[in-house]
Amino acid sequence: MSKLVLRNVSRTFGGFTAVDDFNLSLQEGELVSLLGPSGCGKTTTLRMIAGFMSPTAGTIELDGEVISSAASSLPPEKRKMSMIFQSYAIWPNMTVAENVGFGLKVRKAGPDEIRRRVDEILEVVQLGALRERYPAELSGGQQQRVALARSIVVKPAVLLLDEPLSNLDANLREEMRFEIRRLHDEFRITMVYVTHDQAEAMVTSDRIAVMNKGRIEQVDAPYELYSRPKTRFVAGFIGRTNFLEGRRIGPDVDFGGFSVPAAAMQADGSDGAVHVSIRPQSIVLHRNRPAADGSPCCVPATVQRRAYLGEYWDYHVSLPGISQTLRVTARPQDVFEVDDPVFVRIDPDQLTLIS
Ligand SMILES: Nc1ncnc2c1ncn2[C@@H]1O[C@H](COP(=O)(O)OP(=O)(O)OP(=O)(O)O)[C@@H](O)[C@H]1O
Ligand SMILES: [Mg+2]
Repeated sequence: MSKLVLRNVSRTFGGFTAVDDFNLSLQEGELVSLLGPSGCGKTTTLRMIAGFMSPTAGTIELDGEVISSAASSLPPEKRKMSMIFQSYAIWPNMTVAENVGFGLKVRKAGPDEIRRRVDEILEVVQLGALRERYPAELSGGQQQRVALARSIVVKPAVLLLDEPLSNLDANLREEMRFEIRRLHDEFRITMVYVTHDQAEAMVTSDRIAVMNKGRIEQVDAPYELYSRPKTRFVAGFIGRTNFLEGRRIGPDVDFGGFSVPAAAMQADGSDGAVHVSIRPQSIVLHRNRPAADGSPCCVPATVQRRAYLGEYWDYHVSLPGISQTLRVTARPQDVFEVDDPVFVRIDPDQLTLIS
């Protein structure tokens, strides 16, 4: 049985639909993130799961029981869930240990048990030595870890996190991503993680639900989502990509400058227009025409623009017969000048059909 199920959940505000027919099931111990641009309905979805807001249609189930519907909702305090808000707040007048133990005190745990469980979780988040400090005496990352410890110590059935790292600087954010994943692996808590940062979602999550305008566009594991995006929105939102339009002619798909056997592509397009995405690092540049190696797709091209990013080159190349330039990512040692003639090799298997 799934731990948490959202079934046809919608939420409207007046005439505006913020969450639109949302369907998602989480297994026990799974970490799923909701990823999407600002205003796409992530926080609204999380607030409905937590019980702070009712759906206008659909149901939310926890362990097989309906906890939210348009007709009635179980109040947040009865849901055994913890939520970390977009602007996480820890109490400034309590020490680290008091902050972390507060939820247990509310739940009427005895002082010995509180002490034991607080010590245990502070050890895990590496704050044992700071247990008597006040929040004002902590760094942003340490405060963040207090907020995490506080929400995990009560052993919630589901942990909800709304952009928990948005207040941190880039380095700390990167470190905390791994921290969150580590805590998840240690306690196997079912988690819904809201973010608009694709790297954060990829590092932390078992699966990612990409949202756009209140709807789920695709739910998949990070690898599948990146390598096999199903829609133009997902392909463009998860990393950089090139979009190409081809036309099915007999057994081939013709892209203007080159054509590819439809059967060689990941999914062979039907008749008519065929839209594909190909990642910049899936295209390879060669100075000379590579020896025939069975790859059907090697096209002469010209370097139009280039930028050196240290870790890689970002090239823009033009192909005869194709109006747009293709973006190609190359290793630092693969140096080509602007106006250099090159050969572009495209592996048909890397062309992903999108709708
Ligand atoms: N109480 C409300 N009344 C009216 N409109 C609302 C309300 N709450 C949210 N909205 C609207 O619903 C949409 C989704 O809001 P939501 O807060 O869920 O977005 P989000 O994906 O969390 O965005 P962000 O990444 O900026 O936090 C927005 O257009 C927002 O203006
Ligand atoms: Mg939000």
